[in-house]
Amino acid sequence: MPIGIIDSGVGGISVMKEIKKILPNENYLYLSDTKNAPYGTKNIEEIKVLTENSVKILLRFSCKAIVIACNTATAAAVEMLRSKYKNVHIIGLEPAIRPAVRDFPGKNILVLTTEATQKTIRFKKLINSLSEKSNIICITTQKIVSFVEEGMEGSPALVSYLKKELYPYRKIKFSAVVLGCTHFPFAKKAIENALSYRPVFYDGGAGAAKRVKALLVRDGILNHQGKGGETLWLETEFSKYGRKISKI
Ligand code: DGL
Repeated sequence: MPIGIIDSGVGGISVMKEIKKILPNENYLYLSDTKNAPYGTKNIEEIKVLTENSVKILLRFSCKAIVIACNTATAAAVEMLRSKYKNVHIIGLEPAIRPAVRDFPGKNILVLTTEATQKTIRFKKLINSLSEKSNIICITTQKIVSFVEEGMEGSPALVSYLKKELYPYRKIKFSAVVLGCTHFPFAKKAIENALSYRPVFYDGGAGAAKRVKALLVRDGILNHQGKGGETLWLETEFSKYGRKISKI
């Protein structure tokens, strides 16, 4: 039985890479909801419906675990999904603010997410629980998503966009930057260029991977085939970009 991974587009590949590092023998089913991307500009109710639709598709393939490799979809829908689909492990992605705060107490921490993530109760609760421990500044950098989807994460236009978004904070030196969207790890270089220094980056990929492994070990459902697993790619609409190839 495969591990299913969903995202609005290619962002979840950054998570799948981490999972494959520690679970190379598993088979994977990667579903990008190309038809409805991006999620970050949609309202929470819409994101819930779309995420559930993707989960339903993966359940038809008898996935033993489903990773919502999208911070936006997790923030909007993970609780509802866990209470509705109790027979499958549902692993979500959360902006890795907790480890950043643990490593940099009292320091400046920049959190980047999509627009929708910051509107969710789940995100607001997370920030509230940590806001006294460090100086956390949250901004939305939604446009990174389309740059990454188009394979333009190395473009000067992305650096200019980020410079503009970061301009109000130019006097602050951030010790850590939390990449609170699974598309953003692909844009690390552009973020560094826009800041003109190298912060410590945090993303939720490795944490989610550990969680997946722990659950499969606990339930004795690891794949013990002696060879590397396979990956099947699914899209809700044929994508116009040859994007995936450059991200794998
Ligand atoms: N990759 C998604 C995330 O982690 C969302 C990107 C989008 O579709 O806006 O938030």
